[in-house]
Amino acid sequence: MTVVPYKDKEGGKKEQVADMFNNISKKYDLLNHVLSLGIDIVWRKKAVRLLKDDQPKLILDIATGTGDFAIEALALNPDKVIGVDISEGMLAEGRKKLTRRKLDDRIELQLGDSEKLLFEENKFDAVIVSFGVRNFENLEKGLADMYRVLKPGGKTVIVEFSKPKKFPMKQAYNFYFKYILPKIGKVVSKDNAAYTYLPESVQVFPDGKAFMDILEKVGFKNTRCKELTFGISSIYVGEKQ
Ligand SMILES: C[S@@+](CC[C@H](N)C(=O)[O-])C[C@H]1O[C@@H](n2cnc3c(N)ncnc32)[C@H](O)[C@@H]1O
Repeated sequence: MTVVPYKDKEGGKKEQVADMFNNISKKYDLLNHVLSLGIDIVWRKKAVRLLKDDQPKLILDIATGTGDFAIEALALNPDKVIGVDISEGMLAEGRKKLTRRKLDDRIELQLGDSEKLLFEENKFDAVIVSFGVRNFENLEKGLADMYRVLKPGGKTVIVEFSKPKKFPMKQAYNFYFKYILPKIGKVVSKDNAAYTYLPESVQVFPDGKAFMDILEKVGFKNTRCKELTFGISSIYVGEKQ
C-alpha cells in the first residue's frame, strides 16, 4: 500500500513528496528538533559514528534535505560530502545553512533522485540516508541504486523511523505520533497533510528484519540493525563486498 501526503490530489508519490517538502522546507528544521525534542540530532550523530573506522573520503548523503546528516558526516573528516534531494526548497534552505556555517567547500548539494542517481558505479566510500528511504516512491529501486554507486568494501548507513513494540512505549508513542505531532506540525508548517503523512508512512514502512531483508535482496551483505530510543528509530548498516 502506497501512502501519499495529499490523498485528494493527482500525482505519484515522488511528485507529492517533493511538493510537500517544498511546502514545509522553511519550517522543517525547527519542527524536526521541536517534535523530536532534539533527539534526531543524537540519532544522526550515533549513525555517523558507525563509519568512524572506515574513514570514508567521499560520502553520498541521499535525501539530504536541509543537509543535517551531511553536516554530521563531516565529523568523519571526509574530503567531500555530496548531498542529493528531489526538493529544491529543502536544498535551498540547506545551501543557506552551509553558507552561514562556512561549509560550502566541504558539502555540495545537488538536485537528484535516489532512484536515478547521476553517478557512475563504485564511486562513493559510504552512502548514507537519514529519514529519507521511507519517502522513496520505489524503495527497492532507490536502495539498489545506492548499492550501485557504493564502492566494494563500502558501507551504507540508514536511519529511519521504526515502530516501538513494547508496552508502554508503544502506546505512548502511538498517541503522541497520531494525535499530538500532526496538530503541532499543521499549525507551524501550515501544511495540512505533511505531519499526518509522517505517522501514516511510518506505519506501513518495513522495519527491523523486514527492512534488512530488502537491503539483502538488492545486494547488501552483513546487514545489521540497531534500535534507538525504545525502537522509535533504527539504524541499519549494510556492506557491499
Ligand atoms: C524527512 S526529510 C530528511 C532530510 C534529512 N536527511 C534529515 O535527516 O533531516 C526527507 C527528504 O527526502 C527527500 N526525498 C524523498 N524522496 C526522494 C528521492 N527519491 N530522491 C531524493 N530525495 C528524496 C525529500 O525531498 C526530503 O527532503
